[in-house]
Amino acid sequence: MTARAPHDAPALTGTMPAWRQHRYGDPDVVALEETRIPAPGPGEVLLRVRATALNNGDIRVLRGEPLLVRLAFGLRRPKQPVRGMDVAATVAGLGKGVTEFAVGDEIVVELPAGGGLAASAIAPVKRLVRRPAGLAPAVAAALPIAAGTAWQALDRARVAAGQRVLVIGASGGVGHFAVQLAALRGAEVWALSGEPNRELVESLGATRTFDYRRVQPGSAELPDGSFDAVIDIAGTAPLRALQRLVRDGGAVALVSGEGGRVLGPIGRLAAASARSLFSRRRLRPVAAVANRDILAELVALAEAGRIQPVIERTYAFGESAAALVHVAAGHTAGKVVVLAA
Ligand SMILES: NC(=O)c1ccc[n+]([C@@H]2O[C@H](COP(=O)([O-])OP(=O)(O)OC[C@H]3O[C@@H](n4cnc5c(N)ncnc54)[C@H](OP(=O)(O)O)[C@@H]3O)[C@@H](O)[C@H]2O)c1
Repeated sequence: MTARAPHDAPALTGTMPAWRQHRYGDPDVVALEETRIPAPGPGEVLLRVRATALNNGDIRVLRGEPLLVRLAFGLRRPKQPVRGMDVAATVAGLGKGVTEFAVGDEIVVELPAGGGLAASAIAPVKRLVRRPAGLAPAVAAALPIAAGTAWQALDRARVAAGQRVLVIGASGGVGHFAVQLAALRGAEVWALSGEPNRELVESLGATRTFDYRRVQPGSAELPDGSFDAVIDIAGTAPLRALQRLVRDGGAVALVSGEGGRVLGPIGRLAAASARSLFSRRRLRPVAAVANRDILAELVALAEAGRIQPVIERTYAFGESAAALVHVAAGHTAGKVVVLAA
């Protein structure tokens, strides 16, 4: 009999460890529990999780804030109690009708409802992208939401070769990919980040960097009309100041926006639409979606070394609550990834 590789196991049954929440709140609401291994339905696969990257979006669902989040995720508690949306995994079981993938295949996937902070998870086969052997699970897991959002934000602002782009919030998960992808498109990238991360952001392709605690939209260092596009990931600058940064015909992609506890950024986004109606300097909200084609391109770029996910820290699966605390603090440089046991 040949020895079975650790990630080449047959479909799993029984129970598994999972970090679950039964109410909304801070990271201390999650607890490690034994729960039933889910069964894949038609068109789905069972995954043995190898690495899960965390996002600011996990914290929003964890807390159920803004309250609008609860309309989609569950009014009293999240319908899916396990956080973790960006997953690298091994296919461990196939639902009915799945022929495109086989047990043992290595994949990366975005799970918009969550499920990654568990030993196993379910994913629709149509979302899976193959993970090349040269790309470690932790590195692949860093890609889907953060790099996918950066990609879609650059599209929204129509960033192209030869343009000058300002990335505001350049050191975080989305921002550090926005810098790299804009540079890859041939743009000249300027960036706002915290002082300790300026060197990192420059190493990723930004030609000029500023400390966001000293320089903001409206400061003399960022003259009005001097950018073709702005990617605003921080979400704190006044819309008027952002709009002034771009030239006539330029665009600001609004990835994030601070707002109230109930509606979150909705008010800011409505104001942005109103401001753009009769202006040639457009403020364009970004609502990134899981997109398999974009993820496949990102995986290929990462494998070729043309983009480099920065992983500030990895945590063991047993330390998942601490990983959520880290991300909730809002000061991540690059990504935080939880490795499977
Ligand atoms: N629209 C969409 O579809 C979409 C999709 C994904 C994410 N998002 C949103 O995008 C935002 C970023 O997400 P993320 O996962 O990248 O977050 P993250 O990794 O937690 O971002 C943290 C980074 O942001 C920096 N930062 C904080 N405030 C800043 C400011 N005022 N100016 C410049 N940099 C600042 C921090 O630097 P310091 O440590 O120096 O403070 C830190 O490096 C979140 O609000 C998230 O909800 C939106």
